[in-house]
Amino acid sequence: MSDRLSIHDNRTGNKHELDLSYGTHVDAGSAISASDLREIKTSDHDFGVLVHDPGFMNTSACKSSITFIDGNTGTLLYRGYPIEALAEKSTYLEVAYLLLHGELPISSELDEWTTDITNHTFLNEKIKKFLDGFRYDAHPMGILVSALAALSTFYPKSRNVHDQDIRDRSIRRLIAKIPTLAAFAYRYSVGLPYAYPDNDLSYSANFLNMMFRATETKYDADPVLERTLDVCLILHADHEQNCSTSAMRAVGSSDADPYVSVSAATAALYGPLHGGANERVLEMLAEIGNVKNIGHYIDKVKQGEFRLMGFGHRVYKNLDPRAKILKELAEKVFEVTGRNRLLDVAMELEKVALNDEYFVKRKLYPNVDFYSGIIYQAMGIPVEMFPVLFAIARTSGWLSHWEEMRKDPELRIARPRQLYTGYAKRDYVQLASR
Ligand code: SDX
Repeated sequence: MSDRLSIHDNRTGNKHELDLSYGTHVDAGSAISASDLREIKTSDHDFGVLVHDPGFMNTSACKSSITFIDGNTGTLLYRGYPIEALAEKSTYLEVAYLLLHGELPISSELDEWTTDITNHTFLNEKIKKFLDGFRYDAHPMGILVSALAALSTFYPKSRNVHDQDIRDRSIRRLIAKIPTLAAFAYRYSVGLPYAYPDNDLSYSANFLNMMFRATETKYDADPVLERTLDVCLILHADHEQNCSTSAMRAVGSSDADPYVSVSAATAALYGPLHGGANERVLEMLAEIGNVKNIGHYIDKVKQGEFRLMGFGHRVYKNLDPRAKILKELAEKVFEVTGRNRLLDVAMELEKVALNDEYFVKRKLYPNVDFYSGIIYQAMGIPVEMFPVLFAIARTSGWLSHWEEMRKDPELRIARPRQLYTGYAKRDYVQLASR
């Protein structure tokens, strides 16, 4: 079997042979080099053939060995390990190590990694003055995007993206500090004093501590909620070339430092079609309000007047495996927190949608955001903080892709082409003649 594609150009009768490159296995597909298509021309003036792919529905922007998704089988692997096994047996910091280094750590490596992250959770006190500049009701995602970019000015050496030691230090600082930044953004938005990191606590317990500690000297995290948060962080850690990871790679490809690149990725995640969806899920459930209103909203969806937030996915045309794990987790959380009306609406909405031809035909299943929203709400996490939790988790994924890109011999600054459909060259028309 030849590893080349033959293309016959009917316009010229010419035949072109294009090399194919392959992914790890047949499910990962194969690819031609888009640049090779440029040889397909009708004349020397012809620019050649481009691949036109709005939204990158079928375009490979890079080679990556971090995460594999099979949308048809609902498969999600981090460095080859199934998400189900990692959610059951691993911790977020161990998964962050796996994504970044490619292998699960041995105990001495995990200890060093955990200690290093734990010892970098504090922020420069000047950041608090920066936060003071925001309106009292600023959305924490807007604060986070800004504060991450501002953080780069506290570590000017991080701009030397070609130095491996400096990159490693930046990566650990960002993973360590983003929960602190996130919690500070929340405490500021509700007018509470900042709760500082407690290095005796786990990564997830420390985040809950910085979010919710009141007057007690030691925060006592509920173990079920601590584990629930850690599993949610694992499930949200990476997802191959999603919108925000693509933003991270595009900004990072200009040799921008990792802080401003994570800031750009966070901005992309803020969008309601991406990481902002879990916030919209809660707003949607609140708007539906009651199980008996579900039919009316399903009709609005079919008329194109309403979009079910937390449903559908560009890749998963089967149930998002993360949604399945979160659905089981939700039941455990509600044993601790108690059920609520929104959960009943969510469960009924899922049941109705999964049996309705409109959704089945369009392969619209609940995605990760559908359940993460109702879990966070039950845990007492404010709705505006939902995309912030997504950003905390995805920081390890974004940085893994950034590091992989930095080492990629194919690395080029991101600069897509276009199919120009505007005017041909024309003369300027004086005002009096228009
Ligand atoms: C995340 O990329 C990732 O991996 C993302 C993510 C990650 O971990 O990084 O998984 C996280 O972003 C999950 C998705 C969160 N977003 C939402 O829940 C918002 C609601 N869902 C969508 O808007 C939509 O499904 C997308 C954005 C997720 C996917 O959009 P696509 O692939 O571009 O699909 P589409 O918009 O072209 O829709 C195809 C059809 C359309 O119908 P027709 O025009 O063919 O009649 O399905 C319909 C859409 O109208 N459709 C929906 C719908 N999503 C798609 N109809 C109702 N409700 C929805 N949610």
